[in-house]
Amino acid sequence: MSKKQILIADDDPSIRLLLRNFLESEGYETAEAKSGGEVLRILPALTPDLLIMDLRMPEWDGIEVMKKLGEQNLKVPVMLMTAYGTSNSAIQAIQLGAFDYITKPFELDDVLLTVRRFFDYQELAAEVKKLRVQLERPDPTDKIIGKSPAMQEVYKTIGRVARSDSTVLIWGETGTGKELVAQTLHQHSAHRAGPLIKVGCAALPETLLESELFGHEKGSFTGAMVQRKGRFEMAHKGSIFLDEIGEMSLGTQKKLLRVLQEREFERVGGSVPLQVDVRVIAATNKDLATESAAGRFREDLYYRLNVISIFMPPLRERKDDIPTLVEHFLHKHRFSVSSPPSRLSEEALKVLMSHDWPGNVRELENTIERAVVMAQGGIITSQYLYLTPLKQKRFIDLDQKLQSNQSLRETMGDIERQLLQQALARADGNRTEVAKLLKLEPNELETRLKEYDLER
Ligand SMILES: Nc1ncnc2c1ncn2[C@@H]1O[C@H](COP(=O)(O)OP(=O)(O)OP(=O)(O)O)[C@@H](O)[C@H]1O
Ligand SMILES: [Mg+2]
Repeated sequence: MSKKQILIADDDPSIRLLLRNFLESEGYETAEAKSGGEVLRILPALTPDLLIMDLRMPEWDGIEVMKKLGEQNLKVPVMLMTAYGTSNSAIQAIQLGAFDYITKPFELDDVLLTVRRFFDYQELAAEVKKLRVQLERPDPTDKIIGKSPAMQEVYKTIGRVARSDSTVLIWGETGTGKELVAQTLHQHSAHRAGPLIKVGCAALPETLLESELFGHEKGSFTGAMVQRKGRFEMAHKGSIFLDEIGEMSLGTQKKLLRVLQEREFERVGGSVPLQVDVRVIAATNKDLATESAAGRFREDLYYRLNVISIFMPPLRERKDDIPTLVEHFLHKHRFSVSSPPSRLSEEALKVLMSHDWPGNVRELENTIERAVVMAQGGIITSQYLYLTPLKQKRFIDLDQKLQSNQSLRETMGDIERQLLQQALARADGNRTEVAKLLKLEPNELETRLKEYDLER
């Protein structure tokens, strides 16, 4: 393999000499420039593998040189040398795309470490790129990370239903990846050439949500100055993603049910029925079985949506996925585009493994993103992890209980009923599975289901 060439730019001749001698003794080829101007003059002709450049030089300083290189579209990996205490410029340099920086005065060993790390990374990146090209084939699990059995179930369902037109309901706690799954489903569906249109059902009041979904005719309500297409129309030949559908009002639910049944609707204030070819994907962090039992969600709509349901397991129930997810997020949130991913200390990983992640994968991602910045791309120790305090165990308060005016038996019954419904939904109605989940004998389960009128 040919030698890597490093260009050293510094106005101080003794530094140039020191670095050249040292790096050459370590097997690199070197060249030098006395100023920023000289770097800019010689660069188009010379194509070094790495440029080590002093930040402070007369004429052009390092930052300006980097800007110029960017303007001329000269892609040279840069490592800057900064004086101790000039961290602002160092951050600016990193933002401009410098790979790394070393602070002066430096130890030669540290310089070597940084240089080696850069070339290792470059090789790895090239390798990864090659692999990626080789692996370029449709894979429904592309960006979704996690190998736990619970996630394998998710992949299997995605694979099974992506190509069909069936309505899919994705449910699970906040931050578990529902939107990611919706995107993946769309990308692998027969409707993938069309758009994926998202509607946040919680964000809008009832009247606005209706015109958002179905559009409106001019003058149909105060403020409707012009005719407007709704999301269903925009999603024609594509998919519509109804996020947080559990928040939809009963009135809108009724209209949605009609679209799902007849694939037909009218704009608000309009009378012409419109037809659309749309794949419907809905998501909720509520348990719609419980919601519909409580009368807050239409049961018929629930069944329409729940043709296929994908349950996203909370992160605390699949902690084995944490290390892989962490690695993924360290890659995704590199300190700079060109820097290698930060690493995590063993002790920090232990802290992550013992947290209960009420915000699930999103919380993990935010934690990592923040830690990378706080550790400035270096090793992440637990001091850089800012975790939300562990959620208090659910606590039943007597005063609250008294206010509800229920008997103890009724309250316990409520809780039991809700747990039974959730277990039934999670197990897709499979009784053996439900009995296992709730640690009940099969005949005991049957008695209880009968008691709560849940036998169906
Ligand atoms: N399995 C996963 N692999 C990689 N990234 C994930 C995974 N799950 C979630 N994420 C990431 O976590 C973040 C939150 O995910 P997403 O928005 O899909 O969650 P959600 O279930 O829709 O949350 P909410 O209910 O709060 O809307 C996103 O940045 C997403 O890319
Ligand atoms: Mg979401």
